[in-house]
Amino acid sequence: MDRKGRWLVRTLTFKDENMALGFVNMLYWGNGAGSCRQAEFAVRCAESGMSVVMYGTTTFDSRVGNTGGDFYYDPKTKCSVNAYGMPNRGHKAEMETLSALKGKINAHGAKLGVSISTGDIFIPDEISQMATDIVTNEAADIIEWNGSCPNVEVGGKRKPGVCFSPVNFEAGVKALCAAAPHMLVSAKIAPITEASLLGELADICVKNRVNFIVCSNTDGNCYLENEEGKPALPGMILGGLGGAGLRPKVCGMIKILAPKLRGTSTRIIATGGTEIGTHAYKYLSLGEGMVVGFQFTTAIVRRNEDLRFVSTLISGELNGERGLTDLLVEKGITWE
Ligand SMILES: Cc1cc2nc3c(=O)[nH]c(=O)nc-3n(C[C@H](O)[C@H](O)[C@H](O)COP(=O)(O)O)c2cc1C
Repeated sequence: MDRKGRWLVRTLTFKDENMALGFVNMLYWGNGAGSCRQAEFAVRCAESGMSVVMYGTTTFDSRVGNTGGDFYYDPKTKCSVNAYGMPNRGHKAEMETLSALKGKINAHGAKLGVSISTGDIFIPDEISQMATDIVTNEAADIIEWNGSCPNVEVGGKRKPGVCFSPVNFEAGVKALCAAAPHMLVSAKIAPITEASLLGELADICVKNRVNFIVCSNTDGNCYLENEEGKPALPGMILGGLGGAGLRPKVCGMIKILAPKLRGTSTRIIATGGTEIGTHAYKYLSLGEGMVVGFQFTTAIVRRNEDLRFVSTLISGELNGERGLTDLLVEKGITWE
């Protein structure tokens, strides 16, 4: 802020792609939660150049995930739908993996993030316990609390995403921030474009000094059909929508959140339908300095973990796609 109380927003320009790459390396970008559940793959993510590798989501108790929960990608709409339901080995077992993994990820110059969530029932103490263990064991650099999974089925009904209740959301945020006061922490929310609810969630994050709001998880209970006109998820029928369909929503969230976050220590990580440099550039430029990173999940899962697209996204070397660094050199970026 200058002496007259105006926010200093300026356009950064980049002489060449190397300079732009230096800027990209300072952003928080990498795989979204749900795309990495194995240590070997986490290392491959770090090798691909991601600055933050996100492991999990892990829950206190182990979960097998939903019976019939699956993933489908529709090439026509570029949307995905899934109903995995956070399968994982449970906090204790995953902690052992994480403790051994962090050094390997850090050795590549990347940070290790771990996504945590409560399971069938929302119990803030579970968040406290998981976050405390991660801090004590120095098992990650960032803790991302998933307060928005739409795919937990309990007794035939979907558990509501915690972030739809500001009271519960605040309890989760408080548990996270109290347990990890000196660590980078994120709260991941649903694709909420209802401005008053979104504003309330942002206020809670700002008040509790959450570092990043991750916008967003999948859009719950969506229905897609496959090429034969049959349900794309035959077991679960409804699932969380990811991919291109999320982009307008995430852009709307950024437009609502960015002015609210200016002058606070909370920033946005944009997550939804990022496949190529143009998408990442759009999120960064819409945020006017409040969007400090981006994640992508559908892009990884639909390619069965083939990460070659990552270098295209950043430097645009393949298929004539424009990379993020290319766009930064051409247009610069408005930043706080
Ligand atoms: C197959 C699949 C599994 C996912 N699992 C999780 C998860 O365990 N935890 C979580 O926070 N988000 C999960 N997500 C949401 C993604 O991390 C991401 O927020 C969302 O899909 C939007 O990004 P995208 O369009 O790049 O997929 C999952 C998404 C997909 C497609």
